[in-house]
Amino acid sequence: MKKVLGIATGRRNGNSEILLKVALKACEEAGCEVSFLRLHDYNVKPCTGCELCTKLMVKKRLNGGEGEVHCMYPWDADDFMDIVEQVVAADGIILAAPAYHLMPPGIETVLLNRIHCVGLGNGSKHGHEERRVCASIGVGGSDWTSLFMPIMNFTGSELLGSQMHLVDQMKLHRTPAIGMVLCNQEAMDRAAQLGKNVAFELHKTEGPIEYHGEEGVCPVCHNDLVVIRNGRCACAICDYEGDPVIEDGKIKGIKWDGGIEITRWSPHGVEHHDAEQLATVKLTKMGYEFTEEQQKMMDEGRKVWGAYLDPVMPKRNK
Ligand SMILES: Cc1cc2nc3c(=O)[nH]c(=O)nc-3n(C[C@H](O)[C@H](O)[C@H](O)COP(=O)(O)O)c2cc1C
Repeated sequence: MKKVLGIATGRRNGNSEILLKVALKACEEAGCEVSFLRLHDYNVKPCTGCELCTKLMVKKRLNGGEGEVHCMYPWDADDFMDIVEQVVAADGIILAAPAYHLMPPGIETVLLNRIHCVGLGNGSKHGHEERRVCASIGVGGSDWTSLFMPIMNFTGSELLGSQMHLVDQMKLHRTPAIGMVLCNQEAMDRAAQLGKNVAFELHKTEGPIEYHGEEGVCPVCHNDLVVIRNGRCACAICDYEGDPVIEDGKIKGIKWDGGIEITRWSPHGVEHHDAEQLATVKLTKMGYEFTEEQQKMMDEGRKVWGAYLDPVMPKRNK
């Protein structure tokens, strides 16, 4: 039986959580096993950027896939591994969240940053395609949601091991009060349809995973977040480039360069990422490698800057 996990980051029994449950119920009725967790019930420590996981990942790659990738936090330091177990056991993941300051709540990006350390994200599974899917449900009080769905969809894809397998997304605007979504039958029906689409794609045994939601500007991640780079358009999520098609002084669309094979979600994308990271520094099994002169500059400089100004500590900890 296919398993679908819902991850809620909104208010308890709030708008996004209700829509998530509507979607999960539709998945259940279509023959899936469903569960959900509230991210607020879990203590997830933020990534400290120590890079232990990055170094272990490189070591593993250079050792032909041998070796473990883990975090500097012990597994029982918080509830992170509990979430990882649920994510890994799921075939489908539905993220549901409110918009907070144009984005999903920070707790969701805390989870996103940490998944790097178990080798779930960052291209670790490229070339090992798994038939797992994700979908996103977003609710905003107004229409201040421009960064919201792109970050949710990016998070969902990273939870699947960097696979852009988004099958549906729904964004609801102008829904500020708790429970208000219950007066909006169209939104409730749309959430049920999202659940059906997740179940449909999970039960398909062959053919490509297809997207069922509203089309966005980017044909790969179906978001509308485009940045201008070197005179060209680029999808902020997929790192996919193209040129605007202008008619009557208006942008009618974007003529994209190719397909998913050249985006962030492909082996090509991972190679590009690694080449960019390693353009200025060498990474070996032992970690970053510098010339003696560089190492001296860095060691001495860090001592000097470390000695300049002590941070103001929180009063509570004094
Ligand atoms: C701290 C905070 C920031 C918010 N920022 C936005 C925002 O940028 N855009 C928006 O549309 N709604 C914003 N809202 C409104 C919520 O998205 C809205 O109330 C939503 O219904 C909450 O969903 P929930 O019931 O699932 O928790 C914000 C709410 C809070 C508490």
